[in-house]
Amino acid sequence: MNAALKYDFRSDTVTRPSPGMRQAMAEAEVGDDVLGDDPTVKRLEARLADLLGKEAALFVPSGTQSNLIALMAHCGRGDEYIVGQQAHCYRWEGGGAAVLGSIQPQPLENQPDGTLSLEQIEKSIKPDDPHFARTRLLALENTIGGTVLPMEYVEAATTLARRHGLGCHLDGARVFNASVALGLPVGTLARPFDTVSVCLSKGLGTPVGSVLIGSAELIAKGRRLRKMLGGGLRQVGILAAAGLYALEHNVERLAEDHANAKALAQGLSQMPGLKVVAPPDTNIVFIDVPPQYAGAFAQHLERHGIAVTSSYGATRQRWVTHLDVDRHAVDAALGAAADFFSNQA
Ligand SMILES: Cc1ncc(COP(=O)(O)O)c(C=O)c1O
Repeated sequence: MNAALKYDFRSDTVTRPSPGMRQAMAEAEVGDDVLGDDPTVKRLEARLADLLGKEAALFVPSGTQSNLIALMAHCGRGDEYIVGQQAHCYRWEGGGAAVLGSIQPQPLENQPDGTLSLEQIEKSIKPDDPHFARTRLLALENTIGGTVLPMEYVEAATTLARRHGLGCHLDGARVFNASVALGLPVGTLARPFDTVSVCLSKGLGTPVGSVLIGSAELIAKGRRLRKMLGGGLRQVGILAAAGLYALEHNVERLAEDHANAKALAQGLSQMPGLKVVAPPDTNIVFIDVPPQYAGAFAQHLERHGIAVTSSYGATRQRWVTHLDVDRHAVDAALGAAADFFSNQA
């Protein structure tokens, strides 16, 4: 992005570590984590395992690697996982499960609320027959596109999966957003799953890192896979310290991001022709811009130092609120948008 960028709504991944976080990183006690002796990584892993109510956890460099490790821990060569067409681990991760794990995806259309139809899940589970790949896993995502999956749905989908002997993985890159939005402990949201991938570098505001949390058996497999995939890092307590800092300081405050997203959606919905796709549950707002304005509106925002993601089709924009865009940024963005539309005939 250019130097004139003032308000960056592209993603919650753009946050920079705060002074307090940088200090915690500078002071972190470290060791060689591949040899299993980085005390700060161990503390972070234990803390997240405890918060999510699981036996073990594994610090990894990215959400993409965390999901891949989970898929490969659950599924072997020629196995299959059921997943949404819009799920990050299917659509946005370079097909890693197929390329590196020889795992076949069985994608299903996401419904408008982000869920997968229970009927379609059940229909897509293959019988035990040499013609078919072995269906092994159901992978859900919460939040998905910023939308919180209803708890009853998660219970129903995972119960169905288990009835057929499938494992259950959650891409919980933003599961803390879901937890804060629902007012439920993150452990409640994690309970129906064998593995949960949590990103520290999104709403929680760290520079790098994700953690895969699950049963001792799956995480032990995951540790081997992490090494194989090149994700074993050495004095990585420096990054784990940022994660511990984030868990202490940046979880409850996600509610501010959600309130800012609501204010943003409310304000944008007042602009002539702009359509907010759905009121935001958390920190992500999608809007549809009329085709005749789409290009000019995006350029106008850019000229005012406001960045959004416009790669969701020519007329759809994604705005994401986070630690580094406060209410003032929201008001400034709404002011710039109002300015644009007041100049249209
Ligand atoms: C839902 C979801 N899962 C996983 C990831 C992957 O995370 P990373 O960018 O750390 O690989 C992202 C990244 O945006 C995401 O939005």
